[in-house]
Amino acid sequence: MGMRSELRHRASGIGFLAAALTCGLAVVGVARAAEAPLLLDGPASASPWKRYGNSPWPQTSFAKYNTLNATNSPPAPAAGTPRKLAAAIAGDPKKGKDLAFDRARGGGCLTCHIMGPDTQSLPGNAGPDLSLISTFGRTDEWLFNYVYDARVYNPDSYMPPWGAHGIFNDEEISDIVAFLKTLKAPKEFTGALEDPAKRPAPVETRDNFDPLVNPAVWELEKGEALYKKAGAGGKACATCHADPKAAFKTWAATMPKIEPRLKKPLSVEEFVYRHAAATTGDKFPMQSDENLQLAVYLRYLANGQPIHVDPNSPGAREAIARAEVLMERRIGQLDFSCNDCHTAKKAANKWVRGQLLGEFRGQISQLPRWRTRDSQVWDLRKRFQWCNVAIRADELPPDAAEYADIEYRLSVLNNGIPLKVPGIGH
Ligand code: HEC
Ligand code: HEC
Ligand code: HEC
Repeated sequence: MGMRSELRHRASGIGFLAAALTCGLAVVGVARAAEAPLLLDGPASASPWKRYGNSPWPQTSFAKYNTLNATNSPPAPAAGTPRKLAAAIAGDPKKGKDLAFDRARGGGCLTCHIMGPDTQSLPGNAGPDLSLISTFGRTDEWLFNYVYDARVYNPDSYMPPWGAHGIFNDEEISDIVAFLKTLKAPKEFTGALEDPAKRPAPVETRDNFDPLVNPAVWELEKGEALYKKAGAGGKACATCHADPKAAFKTWAATMPKIEPRLKKPLSVEEFVYRHAAATTGDKFPMQSDENLQLAVYLRYLANGQPIHVDPNSPGAREAIARAEVLMERRIGQLDFSCNDCHTAKKAANKWVRGQLLGEFRGQISQLPRWRTRDSQVWDLRKRFQWCNVAIRADELPPDAAEYADIEYRLSVLNNGIPLKVPGIGH
């Protein structure tokens, strides 16, 4: 909101005059770099956006639940109003165990909990060890409600509301509770790798610039070739920028930036679309192959430069403030915020199954990067989309203003870390 009204203000003649008066004569005579031509109209990614149809993307719609730009989830229960049980729980512990261990149903409880001697390989520890839960003196009502919707006891809980969000019905939750009530012995782990308390953090030692090791280097080479290739209008990038190594030595490390001509922060990828469309005449929508290739190449040119995104430029504070709200917002059927998984006061630095959750600082300097797990190169927006879809929230199109704000804030949080693109990792 703040940025929008400020943009209107800046665009008006009065705003311009006021700015000129406050700046005084100091700027007179200082040559200002020309503005980069941009196609300002229309979306910068495929529109309407359609989710990827290939693995690992699920094809289900999660429209019943919150997204980063819509409020659809059922409201959270009022704290201290647990559902009353008509009778003691009489579920089937065997069925309950199968449900608790079932990865297909929201990832299963082992994503975050150790659950006794039968715990399968690679449990996580984002939640407490429940191996001795039957000895904690919990009532059936407590256990039922904790699984149904933990927010009734703990509004800050980041355990998904399994019942309230329709992942398990009452009967299934009763079975799970019956299983919990059988848990009274610890898990003996066979080695440090199995025990999330001792499991070593993954260390990436592969050479990300060796094309035999990192296939993303091919994207870099294609990007360099594309830069020199004449576009639809007859000109290449190289026609106007003959020495990209010198011209763009720091540029990508300063992106995204607040672009007064657009009502949102402008990322490298969105710039590539809007600038190419306005200069070479090529249309390279965000997340198209060509867009990714040029984005990898432009970031590569700034490798070694510390990320340097201005938190105080006009409009930046507003973008950051909007991002702070978005990143606290619980979305999807599993009802997580970005902060739930990526801040140390919640689950960051803990394991969800075999994956260690990272904090926001340290996450973006190697993007786009090769993902060994999917044999694909993903840029940051594709990662945002996956962090939505993986928790059963509908993703937004890559050019969404919400993602632009989040990318801006993430970049500021990563200031000072040198770019190293294209990266590689699992
Ligand atoms: C994303 C991680 C996550 C997943 C997945 C998860 N939990 Fe939890 N669970 C937690 C956390 C964290 C707590 C600790 C308190 C809190 O934040 O609510 C917790 C607490 C609990 C408790 C309360 C323990 C007590 O001390 O009374 C129960 C019971 C429980 N979980 C059961 C389950 C069951 C059953 C499943 C699978 C259906 C499950 N959890 C899946 C994170 C998770
Ligand atoms: C017709 C000439 C022309 C073509 C073709 C062209 N550009 Fe530009 N570009 C400009 C002008 C003018 C600017 C603004 C002045 C400057 O920064 O050099 C600019 C600026 C830039 C900037 C700096 C942007 C900023 O934020 O200030 C980058 C990066 C860039 N161009 C990359 C490219 C790439 C990649 C291509 C090919 C897709 C391309 N340009 C094609 C004219 C062109
Ligand atoms: C349920 C947990 C969860 C939630 C919620 C979540 N993420 Fe993630 N995210 C992950 C996991 C797992 C990874 C891979 C391990 C890591 O790098 O932390 C990851 C990785 C990332 C990365 C690093 C990408 C890379 O390739 O190295 C970024 C950036 C990121 N997430 C941003 C976000 C943002 C922004 C949100 C909110 C819109 C979000 N995440 C929500 C689980 C989550």
